Amino acid sequence: VTPPGEDWIRVCRVDELPPGEARYVENTPPIALFNVEGGFYATSDTCTHSSFSLATGYVDGDEVECALHMATFCIKDGRALKYPATEPLQVFGVDVVDGVVFVSREPRP
Ligand code: FES
Repeated sequence: VTPPGEDWIRVCRVDELPPGEARYVENTPPIALFNVEGGFYATSDTCTHSSFSLATGYVDGDEVECALHMATFCIKDGRALKYPATEPLQVFGVDVVDGVVFVSREPRP
């Protein structure tokens, strides 16, 4: 499978990340890849409240809840939705090529 470009990371096959689950992706900054009802989305992994991994959080629809102090974020656009987080997450590109999910190394501007 050919990646969509140089700056893309191969994460997993589509069937390895079921709906409602998240996966940590090693990168600088670290990325969390989510499956929201069959659609794949990627945000920065680090909770903007106090640096906890959101890939270990709880996914509910298109929101993820941080496991440490229960801030929530929108997985699709990175918005901080619930206290104690106020700063948004970064959003990363996602592409599916021949059943393999890739994420971009660089966040979207
Ligand atoms: S570290 Fe995520 S809510 Fe505090």
